[in-house]
Amino acid sequence: MPKAPTELADEVREQVKDKKSYLGVIDRLNKASVEKHWEAYADIPWDDPEFQVDKNDPRWVLPASDRLGETAWYQAQQPEVQAQIGLWRVATAMKIGLQFENLLKRGLLNYAYRLPNGRPEFRYVYHETTEECHHGMMFQEFVNRTKMPIRGMPRSLSFIAQAAPWIPLVSTEMFFVFVLGGEDPIDFVQRKHLKGGHIKHPLEETIMRIHIAEEARHISFARHYLRHRVPNMHPVRRRILGLATPIVLGVMARIMLSPPGPMVRHFNIPKDVVRQAYQSETARGEISDSVGKIRDLMAELGVISPVGKQLWKAFGIWDEPKKRRAVGTAKAA
Ligand SMILES: [Fe+2]
Ligand SMILES: [Fe+2]
Repeated sequence: MPKAPTELADEVREQVKDKKSYLGVIDRLNKASVEKHWEAYADIPWDDPEFQVDKNDPRWVLPASDRLGETAWYQAQQPEVQAQIGLWRVATAMKIGLQFENLLKRGLLNYAYRLPNGRPEFRYVYHETTEECHHGMMFQEFVNRTKMPIRGMPRSLSFIAQAAPWIPLVSTEMFFVFVLGGEDPIDFVQRKHLKGGHIKHPLEETIMRIHIAEEARHISFARHYLRHRVPNMHPVRRRILGLATPIVLGVMARIMLSPPGPMVRHFNIPKDVVRQAYQSETARGEISDSVGKIRDLMAELGVISPVGKQLWKAFGIWDEPKKRRAVGTAKAA
């Protein structure tokens, strides 16, 4: 039984100068998926006494460095309430994560359905779908164990999101931007929490480490797919992609990093506390940072037009793109 990874996996990063290097990336990702993968019910010791979920466990209390944890209102709450709010938030992130990944899997399968024989993407997309099935199971199992009335995306948004699995039929490039839009911000936040030492509960830590390790591969595939495909797109389609990207990312990053309405109502969190925690300059900066890698990729691919740039700014997710050093060889996840 493979243990949860102890080191945070790096993404495979290569320049995709030609088809050969693109195929090389897919080969390495396939191999990594076979060698290192985790199963929700084989590799997580759910019944270990150390892994039990108790909503009043002080390990769920938010750290003082957290935007909500630092507010005077939060700090004035009873320790049990502080713990319950912390757990509620973790579980909501997992619920939204599993809903997003459900849409993602359906989209991947729609994409794979139409692939002709012999296409290398087919096998990788199936590896990715398999891994996402285990993520969905581990996230839902965690949510169930909190015994809290956790809801995911707001209903209106969930309704609109049902269009996502059909994006590959219109544009596969747009679909992989959507994939990155969901995976990159979650990955950014999870890595930050782990590195900052804010994850105290072993169950949450195990789930997070497994997720980061496998997401590094998914993110890598999406990024290289875009590097391989976007330069050869029809100019009109590329222009549309450039304009649609900040809209998709702006909406998605906000959903994933915004306060869960049911939690705000359940704990009667005052409006000004919500504003302070989620709509401050720092909070906006965090949202913008979480899509930084996709923004840099779009700049590298030359799809950000002056009008597009205004859209990035309008959604509050603009920052000058960093020139990223191309890496010839990198560790496979
Ligand atoms: Fe996942
Ligand atoms: Fe993924």
